[in-house]
Amino acid sequence: MSGNKSLDYPAKIISEVIANIDQYWFVSAMTIGTLLVIAAYCLQAATVTYQDVLNDRPIIGVLSQETSLHLHSKFPEENYTSYIASSYVKDVEKSGARVVPILIGKPRSYYRDIMGNINGVLFPGGATHFNQSNGYADAAQHIFEMAQKLNDAGDYFPIFGVCLGFELLVILASGRGLNENRIPCRSYENLPLHFTQDFRKSKMFHDAPRDIIDILKNKNVTVNVHRYCIVDENLSSHNLTKAWRNLQTSYSNDENGVRFVASIENKRYPFYGVQFHPEKSSFEWKSSKTYTHSFDAVRANRYFMDFFVNECRKSQRAFANTAEENAKLIYNYEPRFTGALGSSYHQCYMFEPRGNV
Ligand SMILES: *[C@@H]1O[C@H](CO)[C@@H](O)[C@H](O)[C@H]1NC(C)=O
Ligand SMILES: *[C@@H]1O[C@H](CO)[C@@H](O)[C@H](O)[C@H]1NC(C)=O
Ligand SMILES: *[C@@H]1O[C@H](CO)[C@@H](O)[C@H](O)[C@H]1NC(C)=O
Ligand SMILES: *[C@@H]1O[C@H](CO)[C@@H](O)[C@H](O)[C@H]1NC(C)=O
Ligand SMILES: *[C@@H]1O[C@H](CO)[C@@H](O)[C@H](O)[C@H]1NC(C)=O
Repeated sequence: MSGNKSLDYPAKIISEVIANIDQYWFVSAMTIGTLLVIAAYCLQAATVTYQDVLNDRPIIGVLSQETSLHLHSKFPEENYTSYIASSYVKDVEKSGARVVPILIGKPRSYYRDIMGNINGVLFPGGATHFNQSNGYADAAQHIFEMAQKLNDAGDYFPIFGVCLGFELLVILASGRGLNENRIPCRSYENLPLHFTQDFRKSKMFHDAPRDIIDILKNKNVTVNVHRYCIVDENLSSHNLTKAWRNLQTSYSNDENGVRFVASIENKRYPFYGVQFHPEKSSFEWKSSKTYTHSFDAVRANRYFMDFFVNECRKSQRAFANTAEENAKLIYNYEPRFTGALGSSYHQCYMFEPRGNV
């Protein structure tokens, strides 16, 4: 795979024009100024690119979130402050990456340090609120802001949001406020994706195998478990339509026929989100849920982390040495069999026991 392939050729053409400018004695300073403005505009709109060399030992940060009351009740003694559902960890691992857990409630420097050694971050789904101080959304905001800066400086840093994590990405891009930029809706079904006409122009689906697209389009294989949706109006009302490509990816419909954005990507940054759960078909087994486990569902859903891990392979960051890597990897923690305790997550990593509830 070659890097720089999505390089903005308008910017290239303009730099060639600028390079040839001294041939034209009549070009005024004003014209040069105009060209520079146009060049700056093209560069701003251009997709962030990466080096040719791929990193085949990617390490991905998975963000934890506040333990729910339900999960908390399963461990009354330990009083864990945060958790990561193991399904997200396994989904990343099965695509060829290792995981570092990222805890909530830390100062910005903690997130900066951890981002210095990893190749991308996954914002998992779940059920927390975005208004808790020092919580999931605050941690994600540090990461989101710093990832933009890294990318702007030519340091490729991808983010992928699933379900709640996808909604959070859009809300972070909208600016967090009292009114969260999403609508209440209801979707607890396995749904097909309705691809838009030009979905092949998206980064997410450009190279997706034909048979995977056929399954996603024609079979009910995307697992939906959400009470909020992002609709087109939420993107246009916050001026996000230009920066985020939704019209070129996919939609689904909720139980009341509301058409919601099923997948999204930022045009400039390697930031992606899906409203559905690519990890559940292979890794979540609560029998009262209707998650599809068919071979087609497993095959089609694995595409999403394959895609994201491939994006993270474009990042060259690494821990200074194996000892530092070992100290941070998720293998330092043992997942708990929460499914056997009635949780809808089959296994969870639990973090930071505290003294009081
Ligand atoms: C956070 O938002 C939820 C849902 O809107 C609300 O029930 C809760 O009271 C809010 N919490 C704080 C600390 O504002
Ligand atoms: C999201 O879009 C819906 C539908 O247009 C709208 O009612 C709602 O106010 C929007 N939310 C925000 C915060 O803009
Ligand atoms: C797939 O889901 C749609 C929308 O919920 C439903 O109308 C359709 O019957 C389902 N198809 C199959 C094959 O289950
Ligand atoms: C969207 O852009 C318009 C025109 O530039 C501006 O008036 C409006 O305040 C912007 N809205 C938001 C939510 O940023
Ligand atoms: C967890 O909280 C309970 C109730 O406040 C307390 O009795 C218990 O000692 C706490 N556990 C730990 C490990 O501190």
